[in-house]
Amino acid sequence: MGTTGQVSALSYRYDVPGVSDIEVYEQHDGYEGARRALEMEPADIVELVKESGLRGRGGAGFPTGMKLSFVAQDTGKPIYVVCNADEGEPGTFKDRLLMERDPHQLIEGMIVAGLAINAVAGYIYLRGEFAYAGRQLAAAIRQAYERGYLGADVMGSGRRYDLVLHRGAGAYICGEETALLDSLEGRRGQPRLRPPFPATQGLYGCPTTVNNVESIAALPFIVRHGVEWWRQWGTEKSPGPKLMSISGEVNRPGNYEVALGTTVREMIEIAGGMLEGRELKFFCPGGSSTPMLPAEKADTPYTFEDIQEAGSLLGTGALMVYSDQTSVVSVVRRFTHFYEHESCGKCTPCREGGYWLGQILTRIDTGTGRMEDLELLEDLCDNIFGRAFCALADGMVSPVRSSLAYFRDEYVEHIRRGVSPFGVEPRRDIAVVEFTRGGGYEPAPPATPQELQTEPADGGLSS
Ligand SMILES: Cc1cc2nc3c(=O)[nH]c(=O)nc-3n(C[C@H](O)[C@H](O)[C@H](O)COP(=O)(O)O)c2cc1C
Ligand code: SF4
Repeated sequence: MGTTGQVSALSYRYDVPGVSDIEVYEQHDGYEGARRALEMEPADIVELVKESGLRGRGGAGFPTGMKLSFVAQDTGKPIYVVCNADEGEPGTFKDRLLMERDPHQLIEGMIVAGLAINAVAGYIYLRGEFAYAGRQLAAAIRQAYERGYLGADVMGSGRRYDLVLHRGAGAYICGEETALLDSLEGRRGQPRLRPPFPATQGLYGCPTTVNNVESIAALPFIVRHGVEWWRQWGTEKSPGPKLMSISGEVNRPGNYEVALGTTVREMIEIAGGMLEGRELKFFCPGGSSTPMLPAEKADTPYTFEDIQEAGSLLGTGALMVYSDQTSVVSVVRRFTHFYEHESCGKCTPCREGGYWLGQILTRIDTGTGRMEDLELLEDLCDNIFGRAFCALADGMVSPVRSSLAYFRDEYVEHIRRGVSPFGVEPRRDIAVVEFTRGGGYEPAPPATPQELQTEPADGGLSS
């Protein structure tokens, strides 16, 4: 295990004034990683990423180097890089901040990924509501074209690489990589049957890699600083730094960068500790779709393998913290309504099961539940988990199952008393600290008239 605690790696430029401007970015090692990647053979870049042990930051933790190596090189079709910037998982807001604060970092990562797999173009699929991140990226892409990092002759190499910013319309399912590809192609965003996998038939039926913003943004750092630098943090199976969104009943909810291997308890302290008078009751380690864990598991190191051994998943790196004053039933009811609403409707277990889970949880939470509802919930979960078309449904079941496993007594109390034993709702009046190192809340600046002129006429929903 390397050093733990707060670190400054992928976020190290966040505090540099004006770094979204290409000149300032270049003064801070900007595009050095892309320059170095250009001198390397594609296979060597892929090998380096493999050796770094970088695991995908979009949820599943699949090794990034391996994913890049799967992209078919011999089909004769164009190859694409797609960046998943949909960031819809509740509790997750790390990608948005990266794009707002240091947009060139993502563009540079897209160039490195493109060089690694011989891609002709990259697409950033951005959640439509991220208006400020969209403006930042659009301006940065324009600058990168003007400086010759993108376009017909990338850094004088004679190689062509284009980059397209595509704004989605804000559906959670469009973060699922194959639904994302359908949406990008102009269809309704619904998951595709796999195989074929995107590595052989992805965007427009061509070989494609789909990676998360943070995974792609890490590539220039790995190329520039090497494997040892990356592995100074974390464990053998989970190396590197991690951007964390920490939310809930802590004093300073916000984005933090930590070394993998830092314990959950340490991370709560980094976020200012629990709100006064509140004790940790449970936490969701990687967003609302990852099974919740009780306070006793707070000393678990935050790595893919340790969190899994503790009974959950690292997910997107979104630590959601809840106290003894919060009703677990109310939390699970809210999560479930989100997944019920976001179900794309393609398959029955998810579409109908989500509706029924929502109905039952609502009646328990509002005082009209029945004891047999608990078995009914479990039965429904058994009929949804592993039986639906994509992982949204498994994610919907996670909070229900895990809360029943750890807090069944609380469900029973709700039903027996006919009201919530808490009567206290979680606090909702906390201002979110935008980023780390003690900075205060900094709302996104309003668009300038010049920026507004660059916005597509339709608000970017179909660009
Ligand atoms: C319902 C659903 C929503 C998802 N949303 C996102 C998302 O917003 N961003 C993301 O990077 N991955 C998301 N994923 C995971 C992607 O399908 C894919 O695994 C990921 O983009 C791969 O990137 P990585 O290898 O860099 O982690 C989602 C998956 C599912 C099932
Ligand atoms: S599991 Fe849900 S979101 Fe996924 S395809 Fe089926 S209905 Fe759609």
